[in-house]
Parts: sequence; C-alpha cells; structure tokens
Amino acid sequence: MSTSSGRCTRRSCGNPDRELPPIDVTLEHDEAARYHRDWGRPGDLGIVAAADGGVVGVAYSRLFTHDDHGHGYLDDETPEVAVAVREDYRGRGLGGWLLNELAQAAEAEGFTRLSLSVAADNPARRLYERLGHEEVSADESGLRMVLELGRRV
Ligand SMILES: CC(C)(COP(=O)(O)OP(=O)(O)OC[C@H]1O[C@@H](n2cnc3c(N)ncnc32)[C@H](O)[C@@H]1OP(=O)(O)O)[C@@H](O)C(=O)NCCC(=O)NCCS
Repeated sequence: MSTSSGRCTRRSCGNPDRELPPIDVTLEHDEAARYHRDWGRPGDLGIVAAADGGVVGVAYSRLFTHDDHGHGYLDDETPEVAVAVREDYRGRGLGGWLLNELAQAAEAEGFTRLSLSVAADNPARRLYERLGHEEVSADESGLRMVLELGRRV
C-alpha cells in the first residue's frame, strides 16, 4: 500500500491535459483543502496507482468531524472516500481495484464502514453500487453512500 500525497490533483483527473492551479491556491479553498490539509493525520489512508512515470489513479479516505466536513460525511468514525483515475486509464478496472484496496486497508485499520458522496448522474455511482456501496440519503448536492466493510462484495 502506498500513502497518497494527493499529487494526482495537480493535473486534473477529469482532463489530464488541464493543469490545475498550484497546490497553495487549491488549499485556499476550504471545500478542497479539507481533503488534503495536514495529510498524514490519524485515520488518513491512501492507495496510489503509478504508471508511465507518474500517478494515474488514487483512492483515499479521511476522517472528518461534525464541525468540519464535506457532503460525504456520515459520522466522526466513518472515513469519507475520494477516488479518481486519469482519463486515459479509465474503464480498465483500476478505479475498482483502488477502491477495493482502500476498503481492505480501512478494514485492517479497524474501520467498520466507509462513506462517500456522488452526484446522482455520475456514472461512478454504478461502480460504487457494484462494489457494495449503498445509498443512505440524497439531496440537491448528490447521494451519500455507505460501504459496510464486513459485507464487502
Ligand atoms: C470513477 C472513476 C474513478 C472510475 O475509474 P475506472 O478506472 O474507470 O473504474 P473501473 O474501470 O474499475 O470501472 C468502470 C466503471 O466506472 C464508472 N464509469 C465509467 N465511465 C465513467 C466516467 N466517465 N466517470 C465516472 N465513472 C465512470 C462506471 O460505473 C464503469 O462501469 P460500467 O461501465 O460497468 O458502468 C473514474 O471514472 C474517474 O476518475 N472519474 C472522474 C472522477 C470522479 O468522478 N470521481 C468520483 C467522484 S464521486
């Protein structure tokens, strides 16, 4: 297992040709910063896929609190997951592999479930459902899904 430093976010995972702003600029925005700030704190887990001399995919999870959290937050004991695969590496099973590795690592760390947030029309939803994530709530920001680690498919 590798520990993610979040470097995949320097080049857009949605469009590998698009350079993203420097990390300091991204970290000025709370919505993005909370997923990266002080990386390495207790509970942080990350899986990185590397190829062609660079990062091509990453899945990571992080604990949040009632006072500081994003849309995928469930409770203080459930890490929230994020995943992205570089566009030219998608559709080959890498996203699923990253998520499964992350789930295994989280289970080994003693976590009992993982949560995430996904837009209702994001095709990633199908992948999450296939891996056993279940919808627990929905609003205008999207769906919140939970994976019970003891019941992984
Ligand atoms: C979601 C993502 C990580 C999946 O990675 P991947 O390596 O293609 O995943 P796999 O090959 O293991 O699985 C393919 C599944 O991903 C989903 N998928 C397919 N195209 C997709 C797309 N353009 N965007 C998001 N998910 C997609 C589908 O469920 C697909 O399975 P299906 O074709 O049977 O429906 C990748 O598409 C991605 O980085 N998307 C952009 C970032 C993103 O949307 N992240 C999730 C935010 S909640």
